[in-house]
Amino acid sequence: MLVLGVETSCDDTAAAVLQDGQTILANVVSSQDEVHGPYGGVVPELASRQHIKNIMPIVDGALRKAGATLKDVDGMAVTYGPGLVGSLLVGLSLVKGISFRSGIPYVGVNHLEAHLLAIHLEHEVAFPYLALLASGGHTLLYCVRGVGDYAHLGGTRDDAAGEAYDKVAKMMGLGYPGGRAIDQLAQTGNPKAIRFPRARIKSSAYEFSFSGIKTAVWHYLKSQSEEERRAKAADIAASFQEAVTDMLVRPAIAAARTGGIERIVLSGGVAANSRLRAKMKEEAEAAEVSVYYPAPKFCTDNGAMIALAGYHWLKRGRRDDFSLNADADLTL
Ligand code: KG4
Ligand code: ZN
Repeated sequence: MLVLGVETSCDDTAAAVLQDGQTILANVVSSQDEVHGPYGGVVPELASRQHIKNIMPIVDGALRKAGATLKDVDGMAVTYGPGLVGSLLVGLSLVKGISFRSGIPYVGVNHLEAHLLAIHLEHEVAFPYLALLASGGHTLLYCVRGVGDYAHLGGTRDDAAGEAYDKVAKMMGLGYPGGRAIDQLAQTGNPKAIRFPRARIKSSAYEFSFSGIKTAVWHYLKSQSEEERRAKAADIAASFQEAVTDMLVRPAIAAARTGGIERIVLSGGVAANSRLRAKMKEEAEAAEVSVYYPAPKFCTDNGAMIALAGYHWLKRGRRDDFSLNADADLTL
């Protein structure tokens, strides 16, 4: 069964061809970092326009790379939410158009579900597992009991973890998106140089908050001269990263322990972070829990994870009709 997956929920235009839910024949992504970089964040209007420009070459490129044509495709999967509505509509409209013209069935995919299942592109992980989804738009903790069976355990009260990375990177003049830049800069810094606060939500052990640390870094930067800021950049990056990592690791381990869940799966763009990967592994080992994380290209937005989530639903007989609309605030 050949599934074409299409993703345009934010600022990456992506398509993939997946065979039998297992073999990735093609996975093509066009990132818009250069377009949004000068603005320090995604500009929705520009993102939609870029998707319009990129979507046909990306889908064509994925099919060509897979050595397939539309005639070989058995089903299509496309993200219909959550995300930027103008961006979502580009992918959704294209897939609906293809489906209308060629009769190939399609399903709309929840972007969050695709992140939670992305690990299965590379690893066999038994259910149930605890999934920490940390991206530019979300920080969520779920118990994944099976395909379509997700128990929400907690989430962020304010900023997403990736958003904190991007905002701090912007303050430090590291460009957008900033997660990877901070990760790299932190390699040469001392994570104990500055003690940034670790927010704790009293009422729930599984909730996150990242607005406080963002403000703490801002105050710290303000208190330093330009020269000091430059000299201490790596230490600031490492100390900030250490604090964010602690705030992500603690609730995940606590949830796994309390629920007796033996596996933790990381997903979303922030799961590409080297310190988070290392620390989660360390702490999980101590708690006798296994940790799995996707390759960085499957942590960030990609078409393969959309194709995989869609594959499961297509296989179960789900089909969407042409009334399906984009849903910017879609939840799981
Ligand atoms: O999942 P994703 O590609 O898009 C969303 O759905 O949001 O995640 C993008 C986010 C950005 O905030 C980016 O800065 C962050 O993931 N990110 C990282 C790293 N690579 C990407 N954050 C920390 N360390 C990284 N290595
Ligand atoms: Zn995402």
